[in-house]
Amino acid sequence: MTDTRIPLAGVIGSPVSHSRSPQLHRHWLDTCGIQGHYIPMDIAQADLAGAIQMLPKLGFLGVNVTVPHKEAVMSLANQITDRATLIGAANTLIFLPDGNVLADNTDGYGLLVNLQQGAPCWDAAAGPAVVFGAGGAARAVVSTLIDAGVPEIRLTNRTRSRSENLQRDFGQRVTVTDWVQAGNILDGAALVVNATSLGMVGKPELRVPLDGLSSDTVVTDLVYAPLKTRLLQVGEETGCTVVDGLGMLLHQAVPGFERWFGHKPDVDAATRAAVLRWHLNLVWPGQLAWAKPRRHKCSPSLAVRFGMRMLLCTDFMGRVVAP
Ligand SMILES: NC(=O)c1ccc[n+]([C@@H]2O[C@H](COP(=O)([O-])OP(=O)(O)OC[C@H]3O[C@@H](n4cnc5c(N)ncnc54)[C@H](OP(=O)(O)O)[C@@H]3O)[C@@H](O)[C@H]2O)c1
Repeated sequence: MTDTRIPLAGVIGSPVSHSRSPQLHRHWLDTCGIQGHYIPMDIAQADLAGAIQMLPKLGFLGVNVTVPHKEAVMSLANQITDRATLIGAANTLIFLPDGNVLADNTDGYGLLVNLQQGAPCWDAAAGPAVVFGAGGAARAVVSTLIDAGVPEIRLTNRTRSRSENLQRDFGQRVTVTDWVQAGNILDGAALVVNATSLGMVGKPELRVPLDGLSSDTVVTDLVYAPLKTRLLQVGEETGCTVVDGLGMLLHQAVPGFERWFGHKPDVDAATRAAVLRWHLNLVWPGQLAWAKPRRHKCSPSLAVRFGMRMLLCTDFMGRVVAP
């Protein structure tokens, strides 16, 4: 008998209402013409194991995982990808036909593809990378940059012991500096990544002195609310190539969608616009200007710039959905 069930996927977390994934996957399901659904599910820690047992029986092909379950799901999976093992956390679960649960972590993939798209001039081997933060996302960043061939990763975090844990796990290419010295390690950096939650709506600002940035540096921020963080603003004023965190969010979702729904979705201007319609509810009108195409030495392709213009029209034509 053929399986005629409508394919289902979703995102589990607690809370889960902040997640942009439902809008993103809805957009892809519509543009790919797939009759499926992607459902946000607020699941308490105590119910996590039961939910992961039950979801495949209800027709779910897999789920994305957000805070606070990213580490806990690792012990509930029967198979774990190498990259999720290295990172120690999963953001994507695939419910396999044989009943097994495969855990993956696609954050690093999202970071890398976002950099390749937003800063095509960036060459991993060209020079050191500075990473602010040593939490879950920073682990994915460090692991990915090492894999990509970055020769030195200058890591700094408020809690030094967490940076040292990463150095122990990822080896001597990682150098550790005290958080109070964070502004002193920017000299000669080819890439600067903020992987802390500083600068995010509702969190303190990232106050690291940034005068060590140079126009040769590529700067990216994992924080995407607001879209234009202080780090990206200062980077832009310095003439750096800047890449915002929304692209990483979109790209990290591609492998899950492809596994569940059998189609590799595009991350293009329309995808960004679909998510931004909701996302801009979180930020202030000044953020709209950020959607304007910017000129860098390493400027985005014509197609991307055209997409950005389209986005700008979308916003100013009043199609931003009210909160
Ligand atoms: N764009 C994307 O696709 C994407 C993907 C993943 C994550 N993110 C974003 O990345 C950020 C980090 O996520 P995560 O999962 O790594 O969170 P996490 O595990 O909770 O780590 C938080 C990090 O921020 C630092 N931090 C928090 N408050 C601080 C403060 N007041 N002063 C100095 N440092 C502070 C922490 O330092 P301590 O170790 O000292 O606490 C730690 O390094 C979040 O904003 C998240 O939304 C974005």
